[in-house]
Amino acid sequence: MIKHTLLFVLGILGAFAAVAQNPLRIPDTLSGPVMDLELQSGTNVFYPGFATGTLGANGPFMAPTLMLRRNRPVQLRVQNNLNDTTTIHWHGLHVPASADGGPHSYIPSGTLWAPSFTVLDWAGTYWYHPHHHLHTNAQVSKGLTGFIVVRDSLEDALTLPRRYGVDDIPLLLQTKGFNAQKEITYDHPMDTAVMANGTLRAVHTLPAQVVRLRLLNGCSERVLRLGFHNNESFWQIASDGGLLSAPVSLNRIQLGPGERADILVNLSNRVGQSLQLKSFGSELPNAVYGATQPGMGPGQVIQGYSSNPLNGNDFTFITFSVGAIQAPAVQTIPSTLVNHQPWSATMADTTRVLTFMPQNMGPTAIQGPFMINNAHFDMNVINQYVPVGRTEIWELVNQTPIAHPFHIHHNSFYILSVNNQPPSPSLAGRKDVVMVPGGMGRVRFIMKFENFYDDVVPYMYHCHMLTHEDHGMMGQFIVQSPRVSSVEEGLPALGPSLLIGPQPATTQLKVQIKDGRGPATLRVYSLTGALVKSVPVEASVVDLEIADLDPSIYLIEWKGSGKVYRTKFLKQSGF
Ligand code: C2O
Ligand code: CU
Ligand code: CU
Repeated sequence: MIKHTLLFVLGILGAFAAVAQNPLRIPDTLSGPVMDLELQSGTNVFYPGFATGTLGANGPFMAPTLMLRRNRPVQLRVQNNLNDTTTIHWHGLHVPASADGGPHSYIPSGTLWAPSFTVLDWAGTYWYHPHHHLHTNAQVSKGLTGFIVVRDSLEDALTLPRRYGVDDIPLLLQTKGFNAQKEITYDHPMDTAVMANGTLRAVHTLPAQVVRLRLLNGCSERVLRLGFHNNESFWQIASDGGLLSAPVSLNRIQLGPGERADILVNLSNRVGQSLQLKSFGSELPNAVYGATQPGMGPGQVIQGYSSNPLNGNDFTFITFSVGAIQAPAVQTIPSTLVNHQPWSATMADTTRVLTFMPQNMGPTAIQGPFMINNAHFDMNVINQYVPVGRTEIWELVNQTPIAHPFHIHHNSFYILSVNNQPPSPSLAGRKDVVMVPGGMGRVRFIMKFENFYDDVVPYMYHCHMLTHEDHGMMGQFIVQSPRVSSVEEGLPALGPSLLIGPQPATTQLKVQIKDGRGPATLRVYSLTGALVKSVPVEASVVDLEIADLDPSIYLIEWKGSGKVYRTKFLKQSGF
């Protein structure tokens, strides 16, 4: 009898929970010059009766919002208490390669990684997430994702809502898959659970005034077409890399994975109303993931895709209700924001073409169906070398049938054209992700590689559909130091295969050979050709002692197994 009653009660609770709405989770914040992040695994209850395995920072699920200020130094102390290796990448921030948290910056389980840098980015919405190659999708999907909010004096001078969690709300929009045991899955197309900040069927009360929503598409694959159920207008004020020059009035905004948009919504005098933020999947054009047809036509089939009810349909991320006004309330939309002077194509030193192509050989477990410039990602291959100081146009040509959200590390860029058309006002600000349309779509953007050269640690570029990224739709580039970039003519077998750092160096130079191994001999010559050092080497990475050398430029040569590589380095005096 008791058992029956209990089952009955649980049954009722279950049925109720299936439709119950949940208060929106608002992530905690961290601020100040040093921030501690403790990565941990835990559980979260998404479905009553099921403790789902999750990952988080400073808590079992999701990660706190980092509040940064432009021009201030910050140190991020990342303690990895997961059972796995990971890396943490500050998506969108302009930081040195060694602080960027790409796939080479391993944080083994039980260790601390503590990069520091000065915040150089414009006020806006950025985010952080793991970038451990082959594991990014799993670690992000399980919840290891946080916002980064940058503020600066230009933004301070504007009348904008800026009370975090009150009238300035971060919204991480994700769709996730769950298996029968209610564990998060990430490698099949059944991402049917719709979440805002990790909350299913989220509800939240907003004050009756102008509010700012920081929208982030954190989906593994899905493109979102966002708007309100009543089609009312909102104003986009920022894109990936900060504020636009003026608010753009819209009633839909399309965001691919990794893209952000800050919007203002005017709720003045609307106490008691409710508003649903939806993705209008039914309006997505074909050839984007999330539309009825993700490819260019029949035959472009993703197994199981059409049985996911979210594909080609509209669904709700969150229901807002409008509550009392919270003074001091912003009640108007500003007419202008910040001044942009996008770089013109005539400023570019060169154009670099990246072609997205299908892999016709048949995908394998780690090599997916898409490649960039005929290659899948290889940790040991540097795909591009960009001499520091360059302004470059990157031209993306998409020979595959589906649109890909292309993302580049190091800095934000300005879009020059999408399919030969100038960017819409919504895409005319600073960006770090751009949707490249399927079927011979073409995007050109312009970017400056002014600083942060590092001849050893590369930056990444990749598709931000995490399944594509993990399956190798990614490449890496080195921003070359001035000495390495400006020499080399006339020397045999020169090349990018020999990596050195730091530059300049004072006591030790790290020398890495990319496609050779010992035994070899490492020789250092002065610019007049005198041999000043000769060391036998066995490994492919060597720390060469150079404290005894006079400050100057030297030629370094690696000779072994029939190969010779040379480059130059600068020795500087230690002060
Ligand atoms: Cu958001 Cu390379 O990543
Ligand atoms: Cu990034
Ligand atoms: Cu892709």
